[in-house]
Amino acid sequence: MSKRKILITGGAGFIGSHLVRRMVLRYEDYEIYNLDNLTYAGNLENLRDIESKANYHFIKADINDFEEVKALFDRYRFDSVIHLAAESHVDRSIEDPLAFVHTNVLGTMHLLYAARQTWKDDYTGKRFYQVSTDEVYGSLGDTGLFREDTAYDPRSPYSASKASADHFVRAYFHTYGMPVLISNCSNNYGPYQFPEKLIPLVINNILHRRTIPVYGDGSNVRDWLWVEDHAEAIDVLFHNGIEGETYNIGGNNEMQNIELVHLLCDITDEMLGRPVGDSRALITFVKDRPGHDRRYAIDASKIKDTMGWEPGTTPEVGFRKTVRWYLDNDSWLDAVTSGEYLKYYEKHYHAR
Ligand code: NAD
Ligand code: TYD
Repeated sequence: MSKRKILITGGAGFIGSHLVRRMVLRYEDYEIYNLDNLTYAGNLENLRDIESKANYHFIKADINDFEEVKALFDRYRFDSVIHLAAESHVDRSIEDPLAFVHTNVLGTMHLLYAARQTWKDDYTGKRFYQVSTDEVYGSLGDTGLFREDTAYDPRSPYSASKASADHFVRAYFHTYGMPVLISNCSNNYGPYQFPEKLIPLVINNILHRRTIPVYGDGSNVRDWLWVEDHAEAIDVLFHNGIEGETYNIGGNNEMQNIELVHLLCDITDEMLGRPVGDSRALITFVKDRPGHDRRYAIDASKIKDTMGWEPGTTPEVGFRKTVRWYLDNDSWLDAVTSGEYLKYYEKHYHAR
């Protein structure tokens, strides 16, 4: 039998790089193609350790360019797609929603369209896996959990674009019989996350003794999952998930933002040998994000009951490993926070 050829999109980004590394190292008999156009959030440094592996291939391409996507399907005849490429930051989606429609909606459509043309409705051994977010379900009050049958209710341009893409993926299952799979995951944390997102931003600002911007009163709640656990869940679902189905993935680890920021300040101070409370003094409450979703929380019983998957990393271990990694890799932080990032930071935070 010929080797499986798996196209992973967005593999130079945060979650994608962990997934690519896992798939390349675990499945030497698969050919892994990482398609990424290396936006500000994509960085080949994230994959330096595996780039010379024989079963790893990098393709610099843009999912917004249908001709290019189709030509790649024609050339490589991928039999599976795990789709992560996206514009992924809510604050940027508020400033530039059209970019999110282009990449997240149209880009996903291009992949579906090219996959169907290539596979010509013979779906034997094929799979299209859409990596999505819990944010499509909207915002929870103090109680309740997102389940797979919770109605979509996206409220930011980012979540609306991901929800739209998910709908197209599902439409391809019902209309064309394409073997698709969707997972909706909560907030990830760990190494290689671009420091526009809360956790690396806080650690980076502590390192530079810059103020730590907390939106609103800091009481919004997110559920946090160690990124390698997410990559493991994707691997499990890619191999064993039932086509046409959706699976929620979560960390069983809800925290208020302010609680999390306090924890990160304390761990970082301890690791840097700074006095207790030193970094908490940097916390500044700033204007709230427009339409800021109150709370996300996941009922992850389906993946646990059907796949036997649960997060393997406790928050106590995961947050310490995360802080340690950014402190040990401050040159990575410095490299990605130069240039364009600085312009974004000035514009976004100094306009507040
Ligand atoms: P990220 O922003 O770190 O990475 C996105 C990657 O996609 C980058 O490497 C970027 O270069 C690439 N990309 C963007 N536009 C592209 C285009 N037009 N063509 C080709 N490549 C392009 O994002 P992430 O946090 O790793 O998220 C990956 C996926 O997981 C996204 O689809 C996101 O919606 C989803 N997700 C993220 C989280 C989270 O907490 N980060 C949680 C649940 C789901
Ligand atoms: P973020 O990491 O952007 O993820 P998401 O919005 O997709 O959940 O933000 C996590 C939480 O932290 C969210 O409630 C917004 C908040 N936040 C701040 O308080 N300050 C910040 O500077 C950022 C980037 C986020």
